[in-house]
Amino acid sequence: MSDTPDIITVTDLVKRFGEVAAVDGVSFAIREGEVFGLLGPNGAGKTTAISMIRCLLTPTSGDVVVEGFSVLRDPMAVKRALGVVPQDIALYPTLTALENLRFWGRMYGLSGSLLEERVAEALALAGLADRAREAIEKYSGGMKRRINIAAGIMHHPRVLIMDEPTVGIDPQSRNHILETVKELNRRGMTVIYTSHYMEEVEFLCDRVGIVDHGSLIALGTIDDLKRLVGGENVISARVSDVPDGVLDALRALPDVDGASSAGQQDVAAEPSEGAGAEATLADAAGTTIEILSHDSGAVIASVVTVLTGFGVKVMSLDVREPNLESVFLHLTGKSLRD
Ligand SMILES: Nc1ncnc2c1ncn2[C@@H]1O[C@H](COP(=O)(O)OP(=O)(O)O)[C@@H](O)[C@H]1O
Ligand SMILES: [Mg+2]
Repeated sequence: MSDTPDIITVTDLVKRFGEVAAVDGVSFAIREGEVFGLLGPNGAGKTTAISMIRCLLTPTSGDVVVEGFSVLRDPMAVKRALGVVPQDIALYPTLTALENLRFWGRMYGLSGSLLEERVAEALALAGLADRAREAIEKYSGGMKRRINIAAGIMHHPRVLIMDEPTVGIDPQSRNHILETVKELNRRGMTVIYTSHYMEEVEFLCDRVGIVDHGSLIALGTIDDLKRLVGGENVISARVSDVPDGVLDALRALPDVDGASSAGQQDVAAEPSEGAGAEATLADAAGTTIEILSHDSGAVIASVVTVLTGFGVKVMSLDVREPNLESVFLHLTGKSLRD
């Protein structure tokens, strides 16, 4: 893909809110036809960066060029080139899905038979054609998000920006959304996808920029990024609980390069549909502690000693290859979900 032209160029982009540099000098380019991921924890600056690309916020300094148009000089042309699926749902709750999509279609300048064609296409893509005449307020959170996505693609933008489109929804809608992104990309759409879920980014993205505290701390293909943790493995322990101090004790072990707890905790904490069921599942399955080590064989015994010393019950233990979560841990010393 390296000879594919760039469709978006971000140069030295900065956004300050008072003392806070939400985006702190970020540069990258997005290639035509790729799914580009922006991965980072809550507060990393993803939405702020996206908001400048889509001309909702003016940069403090720097520039973004979309299909040759600068956000500083040609914001209208930039807006026309982009489809946007915002982090917050942008639909009228009392209107039906059909009415919402017609409204958004007209906003994009569609009318007549083309409008109806695009509405039908969008409903099919959302998998909600049979529920089109129900008011959005009767929809589940996942269904609302699917219509939100449909609304963003009716004008067939060449680039689609999606800001954390799966936060707090049921697994079925989540899978539907991930498959939709793949399908849109197969049809030729360039996609920018922000998330703090590394599994989604690993599943979807050709290239990934990892952001933390407003800075881009790594950029590359998934394989490029995994090579950053070269020679390190992840010891993954299913445990009963994570008492205060246990992660620090693990980090203090020789040959341990990082430790974090991940897994079900934040899923259960989010206001998701069926949150009750997920919380029960998480309780039954415990939590996961992940330990990054360049000599996992040598540290397993001392890891178990530390855990049992804290009264933690170890339910399973395995050693695996690094993933993007490990890359983040390696680069920042903390978990994506801390
Ligand atoms: N309008 C605003 N005013 C002040 N601070 C803001 C504003 N928007 C975002 N921030 C701050 O900027 C940082 C990045 O936020 P955001 O871009 O929303 O992160 P993310 O989308 O990665 O979760 C956070 O510290 C947030 O509190
Ligand atoms: Mg955000």
